[in-house]
Amino acid sequence: ELDSSTSLLPVIAGVNVYPEYIADGALVVDDATGLVVDYGHCASMMSQYGNNSEHKNKALVQIYNCKHNLIMPGFIDTHVHYPQIDMIAAFGEQLLDWLNNYTFVTEANFGNPKIAHDTAQFFLNQLLANGTTSALVFSTSHPQSVEAFFSESIRLNTRMITGNVLMDQNAPENLCVPTEQGIRDTQNIIDKWHERGRQHVAITPRFAITSTPKQLQMTGELYRSYDSVYLQTHLAENLDEVAFVRELYPNHKGYLDVYHDMGLLGRRTTLAHGIYLETPEYEVLRDTGTQIAHCPTSNLFLGSGLFDLSKTLSYTGVSIATDVGAGTSLSMLTTLSEAYKVQQLQKKSLSAHQGLYQITLGNAQSLLLDDKIGNFMPNKEADFVVINMDGTELLERRMTQTKSLEEQLFVLMMLGDDRVIEQTVIAGVSRYKRSTVL
Ligand code: GUN
Ligand code: FE
Repeated sequence: ELDSSTSLLPVIAGVNVYPEYIADGALVVDDATGLVVDYGHCASMMSQYGNNSEHKNKALVQIYNCKHNLIMPGFIDTHVHYPQIDMIAAFGEQLLDWLNNYTFVTEANFGNPKIAHDTAQFFLNQLLANGTTSALVFSTSHPQSVEAFFSESIRLNTRMITGNVLMDQNAPENLCVPTEQGIRDTQNIIDKWHERGRQHVAITPRFAITSTPKQLQMTGELYRSYDSVYLQTHLAENLDEVAFVRELYPNHKGYLDVYHDMGLLGRRTTLAHGIYLETPEYEVLRDTGTQIAHCPTSNLFLGSGLFDLSKTLSYTGVSIATDVGAGTSLSMLTTLSEAYKVQQLQKKSLSAHQGLYQITLGNAQSLLLDDKIGNFMPNKEADFVVINMDGTELLERRMTQTKSLEEQLFVLMMLGDDRVIEQTVIAGVSRYKRSTVL
């Protein structure tokens, strides 16, 4: 039971879906390294690590014990386009027209380093305000857009993954980059940024429609020449898109087979959407370890379709993502709320425990980052959020009416958004505090 008179620390510590929850808990962070030292009951942490403890002179630790609030691991967004924050909520179209009429127009601006820096800075601050501490991100086809993003991220010390978007056909000329040039740009970005601080590079062909077969081939070769670089793209989001890919690749078995044939699949690959897949395609996902990112607000906003979460999970790892600017919110809580509704429309479900596990440790596992982030095991990086369970008047009222932890977390998942994020801490350093000025 959540009792607002005690401080709370739910720790999603195990590999299973059940959160470890500690009422009146505390998190102990090493100030010098930004890593988790320990967590547990507040009194026990104070006696072990507090001012009068034997540890006092051993390590400079910070003990976080947030009265009335919930401390959770930072949220992880596994598919989001930072430049599209400048065209989020564009009216009226489905995927292919939306791309042509709005997306490509906005992305064309990101060759301008000033626009790229301004937007990257704004976007990263918005992520922090929503409690998101790590993300797998699309930039644009301009190397400057990636440079701007990593420069801002390294300053904040956030763990982020991005890369230049590869496009060499079926898009406006000002966004297409010649086949070999795009690959060379990616190569240079890997050399400069991959595993520098907390940054990682993802090879990022936009999708099968906007890359020539030659470019997809080269993309696969580049991917296979590394063992820790990521790959991200889109898959089977919309029926017109699937039909267009079939037209472009009549001799392939289907959309996923194009990527498979080009060597783009594997455990470090995250494909956004995957709504329209046949059984043999699920088997390819399973056999290659390829991960799917489910983007509920995007799928609803663009009218793309209903994602089958349980079926996909029975074959491979699924993460949950916003897909802003087709997605309509950067809040992972709002995204979970919409994910629940997408399952309801299919007479299926998504529990609060499963949802909150997914946006923390589950998404970390999908990105192979669960040795570093996702929960509070000792030596993990101390990325966390402080959540105010009474962050709105409605929440405050419903929390007093709701008794069990599971019910309260479900109310949080359905009604919570950026207003409940009190503070966001990156590797032990506070990077966001909610203004309480009314
Ligand atoms: N498919 C190819 N590009 C995009 C994009 O920018 N957003 C979404 N939702 N789908 C895509
Ligand atoms: Fe996307």
